[in-house]
Amino acid sequence: MQLRVSVFSSIATLLALSVLICVHASNPMPATREEWEESTTTTYEITPATKTKKTSSTTKTKKNKKEKVKKEKKQKAKKGVPAAVDTRQLMADMYQHINAFGIPEHETKLIEERGGAPTYGEIKPESLATIFNDIGVTNKDVFYDLGSGSGKTVIQAYLEFPFKKVVGVELSEKRYNYALEVLQVLRQRDLVDPARPIEFILGDFAEVPFDGATVIYMCSTCYSNELMEKLAEKFSHLKKGLHVVSLKQIPNHASYGLELVKEYRLPMTWSGPEGSPVSIYKLTKPKKAKKKRA
Ligand SMILES: C[S@@+](CC[C@H](N)C(=O)[O-])C[C@H]1O[C@@H](n2cnc3c(N)ncnc32)[C@H](O)[C@@H]1O
Repeated sequence: MQLRVSVFSSIATLLALSVLICVHASNPMPATREEWEESTTTTYEITPATKTKKTSSTTKTKKNKKEKVKKEKKQKAKKGVPAAVDTRQLMADMYQHINAFGIPEHETKLIEERGGAPTYGEIKPESLATIFNDIGVTNKDVFYDLGSGSGKTVIQAYLEFPFKKVVGVELSEKRYNYALEVLQVLRQRDLVDPARPIEFILGDFAEVPFDGATVIYMCSTCYSNELMEKLAEKFSHLKKGLHVVSLKQIPNHASYGLELVKEYRLPMTWSGPEGSPVSIYKLTKPKKAKKKRA
């Protein structure tokens, strides 16, 4: 029995060797991986539906190579948070006991006085990720959330994207304190890199300077038009290229140097799958900074 097995395995080895020799003779081994990638004409791409699709052409291979390098660069740029951290699960754990909806009456009044609205809602994490991916966030970007609630967008931005700094501004002290609580947990877990600051400011965003901002988000659905224009005026003095993401359209945006670059609907906590409108603007014509009088 043992003899028969070893005879069979010897025949199989011989057959495999002769097939290898034939293949090698007709298709010599390239000297480098690059050479191999250049010579190959068949590539397999994984479609979003995870089916394998056969495509042919050297140009496609080159394109794939470029995309791979780009992806690697992007991943390298993401520093601070170890890849092994499941950020969505971590956020779900940290926010498990937090409910930012109810706030004291005096805070509601304060928000109304400043042109905001006492209603509360949050952007869904997958929607925020879509926006940041569309903008093409890099490690040179600084993020501000105007009306940051319990800080979810700021924390997500920090954990999942390579922002060099993230800031949340919130008028409700109760919500602001929730954000600080979560930040404390992040620090305890050693997930805050001092080289990439994360900051929460208690105050009215109309009065806070947006130092270094390159991406601003505002869940502005219920902000008054007056407040929107006041903010747009502030944005118009910031750095050229600034992206402003707003759920409510900015009235007279062009007069503040803001160009509408994208509009779509994305899911929010209060919307159905059809989502809520989102507008992305780019500051293409910033106003010159006002000179200070001596
Ligand atoms: C709809 S919530 C958005 C929460 C969070 N940004 C998100 O999208 O998940 C809007 C927040 O803006 C805050 N807010 C309203 N007016 C404000 C103002 N003038 N200054 C700072 N925060 C303000 C409210 O307290 C509320 O927490």
